[in-house]
Amino acid sequence: MGKDVIVALDLDCRKKVVDFLDRFTEEKPFVKIGMELFYAEGPAIVREIKARGHKVFLDLKLHDIPNTVQRTMAVVSGLDIDMVNLHAAGTKAMMEAALTGLTRPDGSRPLLIAVTQLTSTNQQRMEEELLIHQPLDQVVMHYAKCAAEAGLDGVVCSPLEAGEVHEVCGKGFLTVTPGVRFAESEVGDQVRVTTPARAKELGSDYIVVGRPILRAEDPVAAYRRCVAEFVG
Ligand code: C5P
Repeated sequence: MGKDVIVALDLDCRKKVVDFLDRFTEEKPFVKIGMELFYAEGPAIVREIKARGHKVFLDLKLHDIPNTVQRTMAVVSGLDIDMVNLHAAGTKAMMEAALTGLTRPDGSRPLLIAVTQLTSTNQQRMEEELLIHQPLDQVVMHYAKCAAEAGLDGVVCSPLEAGEVHEVCGKGFLTVTPGVRFAESEVGDQVRVTTPARAKELGSDYIVVGRPILRAEDPVAAYRRCVAEFVG
């Protein structure tokens, strides 16, 4: 897999997803199915989107005891998805258990990515609510290192952190980066944001884009603009 734009299908029912994907007559975007859609439609929607020819990132952000995560990942690995994730805060033991669960009998498995700190978090919230008093970028790097040591393929982080993650964990360690906005668009609840072009300069491997595409007047044009800026 190379650099790509992942479209976040943050929609609450199958019909909206089908209407949205039907607009794409030429390309088959890599898509992200998050909790909203997965809880609404279940595994059937994953199978349907895979059958339409899309790569799928199942964004379930698992965070539970190792045994539960391992068993859940074993179920998830049967869905033929391309990427799935969990929270690095669940510890290395949880991440290692997840990898074990995810690996199919033939040795193959989807990419496994760890969330470091959500891109909606900032230093103040982390200190006051999570009682973490290290600088945010150091927290992200520490979680990234733990994920790499546990054998994961990469992390979800801000594009602003992608370069440093590559320095700390190696170039092959993937950075999947949400918090992307066009220069002129609204930030919403995201805090650490950049444009697709800047994410490319900063070395992101994948950008995850939701609202700037979903809420665009012409979503296909917005998707193409992301690809043009990010992939080139
Ligand atoms: O609409 P927007 O472009 O902000 O969507 C970003 C997507 O990336 C959402 O689906 C959100 O759940 C996801 N995400 C995130 N920050 C993380 C991990 C995932 O924004 N750290």
